Amino acid sequence: MQITVEGLTLQYGDNVAVRDMDLTIGEGESVVLLGQSGCGKTSTMRCIAGLETPTTGRITVGERVLFDAAKGINRPSHRRNIGMVFQSYAIWPHMTVFENVAFPLTMQRTGKADARRRVMETLELVGLAEFADRGASKLSGGQMQRVALARSVVMQPSIMLLDEPLSNLDARLRHRLRGDLRELQQQLGLTSVYVTHDQEEALALADRIAMMQHGRIVQIGAPDEIYNRPRSASIADFLGVGNIIEVEPVDATHVRVAGSELTLQVPAYERAPELRACIRGEDILVAEDATGGNEITATVVTREFLGASAIYRVELPGGAQLEVYGSKHRPLHAGAGQEVRLRIAVDAIQVLPLDVDDSPRADVPTIAHQAVSVG
Ligand SMILES: Nc1ncnc2c1ncn2[C@@H]1O[C@H](COP(=O)(O)OP(=O)(O)O)[C@@H](O)[C@H]1O
Ligand SMILES: [Mg+2]
Repeated sequence: MQITVEGLTLQYGDNVAVRDMDLTIGEGESVVLLGQSGCGKTSTMRCIAGLETPTTGRITVGERVLFDAAKGINRPSHRRNIGMVFQSYAIWPHMTVFENVAFPLTMQRTGKADARRRVMETLELVGLAEFADRGASKLSGGQMQRVALARSVVMQPSIMLLDEPLSNLDARLRHRLRGDLRELQQQLGLTSVYVTHDQEEALALADRIAMMQHGRIVQIGAPDEIYNRPRSASIADFLGVGNIIEVEPVDATHVRVAGSELTLQVPAYERAPELRACIRGEDILVAEDATGGNEITATVVTREFLGASAIYRVELPGGAQLEVYGSKHRPLHAGAGQEVRLRIAVDAIQVLPLDVDDSPRADVPTIAHQAVSVG
């Protein structure tokens, strides 16, 4: 069912956790709320779930109004028919897998045969059918999270809310369960809101990503759209663009690296008080390997060997640093202190404002580093 959030604000005392948010999630769509810790993701979910009373706004699911501040409507959480999965597994260790998943149906007084069929179907769906009779405490973290997932799905909720459900799991398991979740979501046509601070997880699971900063959605779009065209340097930074350099405008298609004479040719950009050139490390080439674009000379600061690849940190005239990826096939052949010639294609550079202009200036943290987060 479609979820509509209009003008949603949640304040904790003076602290505004969610600011005037508008968001529509289509029937069967998976929207991922992505953003730094503290940006208001969980607060948004708790408002939709009915675990928090918003300061103002309106929330509907399908035709049903769950919350409307103006009309004084506030449907209690247990009457919202929402499936929820959180970071902590919240399953009952003294019950079996079957009993855990059957629990909500028991509460609903679903008939025994019907309940049994639904539980087994759901366990089948999450790959736990053969564990039905096992004690829940004798499961791995990933299996426990599948039980939590099954317990939500068995209710046939009209929508699903998942708040960092994989973040307690180790990397391999997280990866696998992520794929399974996406499959389940598509198979059941679940309308879902998924929260994470992990950009890779967001890219993998979303039909659309809603980037949140300071209680607002600052950009929303398909994963490739957000990844390829972030609206601001702080969003690009969050999405793992390794090189964010302070620049000043020269003309429509040129910028100067701050504190230096180095001018870069760039695609057309919009002027803003604070501009940053954003470049992915893999887009910076060894000069001889290509032609055109910007040819620059830099000095190697460090080289970090990673097996299949290496990350070089190089310094530009003026002091700004860049991270450059080298590989077996395109080594830089240079050690610390040596000069290298690099090439950056014009369209590999995005000149962006530091922040989306509608975010409140005062509490926006600036990107302090001139370049580089290696690793
Ligand atoms: N129960 C609470 N009381 C007061 N402030 C809270 C409470 N829960 C969250 N906050 C604050 O609201 C903001 C958003 O928090 P949260 O929604 O948990 O962020 P996220 O899930 O994106 O990490 C943060 O500044 C946080 O400190
Ligand atoms: Mg949270």
